[in-house]
Amino acid sequence: MVLPIRAFGDPVLKKVASDIEQGHAGLDQLVKDMFETMYAANGVGLAAPQVGQSIRLFVVDTHAGSDDEDGEAAPEGMEPEPRLKRVFINAYIMEEEGQEWGFEEGCLSIPGIREEVDRQPRITLRYQDEKFEEHEEEFVGFAARVIQHEHDHLDGILFTDHLPPLRKRLIQGKLRDISMGKTDAKYPMRFVPKK
Ligand code: NI
Repeated sequence: MVLPIRAFGDPVLKKVASDIEQGHAGLDQLVKDMFETMYAANGVGLAAPQVGQSIRLFVVDTHAGSDDEDGEAAPEGMEPEPRLKRVFINAYIMEEEGQEWGFEEGCLSIPGIREEVDRQPRITLRYQDEKFEEHEEEFVGFAARVIQHEHDHLDGILFTDHLPPLRKRLIQGKLRDISMGKTDAKYPMRFVPKK
């Protein structure tokens, strides 16, 4: 089932999400629905707070929208990378390394806005998979960036929070419009009801 995506301005997007335990009610269905929702919106990552659940869960598919299963597709100017399709539970970034690089990010909760965000290229992530097996793994490049973006959602951070003050000021009007439901997103969204 495709779930409505919470729009900028929803308080759930600003909350720090909680760890979950094995046997978490409805988890299998939620993971399925999150992949479906992400694909319907042409996203490469989706975090549980974006569908209204303040839990440490996100899904990633770096090749969403491409027919190619083994990884020819890559953002322009980047080396082709293997496809990363995975469920991340209780994920924490342990380390970030390397020279920051800029890349234009977007977010399904902030439709129509893309801005360059600087992030470090190499991360070490501790997480559990959908079977709650523990992993500590290194990710680089685009995969690392998608994980950093989704991991931010678990801490109540949006990519717009990383922008320099001037850029932030320039998009303020657009952000307000989104929070009030003025957007032409092609997927179902949920906005905070007007008071
Ligand atoms: Ni996002």
